[in-house]
Amino acid sequence: MNTKLIDGKEIAKKKRSEMKSRVVELKRLGVQPHLAVILVGEDPASKTYVKNKEKACQEIGILSNVFHYETDTDERTILQKIEQLNSDPAIHGILVQLPLPEHIDAKKIIRAIDPKKDVDGFHPINIGKRILGEKSFIPCTPLGIIVMLEEAGVSISGKHAVVVGRSNIVGKPIGQLLLDKDATVTYCHSKTKNLKEYTVQADILIVAVGKSRLIKADDVKEGAVVIDVGMNRDENGKLCGDVDTLEVLPKVSRITPVPGGVGPMTITMLLANTIEAAKTVHK
Ligand code: GUN
Repeated sequence: MNTKLIDGKEIAKKKRSEMKSRVVELKRLGVQPHLAVILVGEDPASKTYVKNKEKACQEIGILSNVFHYETDTDERTILQKIEQLNSDPAIHGILVQLPLPEHIDAKKIIRAIDPKKDVDGFHPINIGKRILGEKSFIPCTPLGIIVMLEEAGVSISGKHAVVVGRSNIVGKPIGQLLLDKDATVTYCHSKTKNLKEYTVQADILIVAVGKSRLIKADDVKEGAVVIDVGMNRDENGKLCGDVDTLEVLPKVSRITPVPGGVGPMTITMLLANTIEAAKTVHK
């Protein structure tokens, strides 16, 4: 693999192997980490994600249960299930796969999850704590990015980080986490005028917008570290990121590939958060 590429698969493998030992240790102490996943409907992408999450749990010894509901299931049924899982001491993590069907209020569902079991880090309590710099569950993709930067030996303090995209799941939290690590952070989004004016200033460029190969060589600074969160299909159906990797490669110092970059880290951090939740119960 090109030495400029940050190998998410390899980092994920290393982290999962470390976690496997932590799970063995927890089990020895009488705690079996256990994740409950709620899936509503038949969205093929969601079903694949959930299957991958189950498989990853199994690989490192975390128990997982998937509660799969039909598309027309009412909100109350899901809320009741969450209540039951909240009060079940054997369950450490609860994840409701998004998106939910339109008749279900996702905000209400997320708020119903016990923040101590919110391994996605989407509950307002966890978001608030994170902003205050208190210990909280951090959403899996941004957490995975931070771990990747650390593993790649990228220093963050004093760097100018430019985040393109302002979603609640990736853009907003990754900017906050980089700020907490003393980066100077600039957020860009769909209404930003002259995007390039900002991206060329980035020492660390995070792109999470879902637009195939949006970022070209002219948009990056020489020597930049680029994290590509995109997972798109191009006009030929080929998997690609938000960055034109081949074009920018000669210019950057490090870059995450797609696939095999940020993707494998997301589920790995879900495992990490579930273990953390199980450890908290044990304390
Ligand atoms: N759908 C797409 N990404 C995610 C995620 O990280 N968590 C959940 N719960 N649903 C998702």
